[in-house]
Amino acid sequence: GAKRLVPGDIRAAKGGTPIVMLTAYTTPIAKLVDQHCEMALVGDSVGMVLHGLPTTLGVTMEMMILHGQAVARGLKRAMMVIDMPFGSFEESPDQAFRNAARLMAETGAGAVKLEGGTHMAETIAFLTERGIPVMGHVGLTPQSVNTLGGYKVQGRGEDGDRVRADAISVAEAGAFSIVLEKVPDTLARAITKAVDVPTIGIGASADCDGQVLVVDDMLGLFADFRPKFVKRYAELSETAERAIATYAAEVRLRRFPATEHVFGDDSKAK
Ligand code: KIV
Ligand code: NA
Repeated sequence: GAKRLVPGDIRAAKGGTPIVMLTAYTTPIAKLVDQHCEMALVGDSVGMVLHGLPTTLGVTMEMMILHGQAVARGLKRAMMVIDMPFGSFEESPDQAFRNAARLMAETGAGAVKLEGGTHMAETIAFLTERGIPVMGHVGLTPQSVNTLGGYKVQGRGEDGDRVRADAISVAEAGAFSIVLEKVPDTLARAITKAVDVPTIGIGASADCDGQVLVVDDMLGLFADFRPKFVKRYAELSETAERAIATYAAEVRLRRFPATEHVFGDDSKAK
């Protein structure tokens, strides 16, 4: 069998063939991601994508653990990274360690991801020094939607220095990789050159060391959300809608079930 990827493998891929990452929240999608990607992210986007929450703020440790366990059952080679949900790590390094250790122990994830730059550096160092690999996440950090005032591009113009400093602090604190979300192309390129760990872009740049997307977005399953940075590789929600409409019509016309879907009374029949 294929050898399980670990944070050291991801770190070593800096500057090489781009690292491929997608979110996964369920076993069947995890199995597909495992065939083609280096990392599967159990993102807290699960709250919006699968549970209908308006933001990621309502995502709980229990939700992350349940989905993390489902994803783990589908992975052989890809490394699982699991998001620390809002409220589970910001208070103190102690709080972050306690919850990160629980996520790792109960799901078998290879690493946790947490949002935040310079102000989270102490926590990232605390975790990595105690055996928990951390992926950083800077630029647009959706858990801060209320203080950022929306899901805007981060680091345009003068503000680029802030995002660059965030990425450098996170790398220096010991993160093995950093997600750059919704930052200008040029800034993402500059940050990728400035840090010695791989950058994973989403709405960032083709020059990042890797890319991540929300799998339901790129499959066209989460149809309500059409941001510029998501390329639709399929339109599964349209396909599913047509299938459901056809099923409903066939039931009403008594065309489903047909002969091949029903059972005979003969005990030897299939
Ligand atoms: O939760 C998530 O899906 C993420 C990615 C968009 C990076 O954090
Ligand atoms: Na997330």
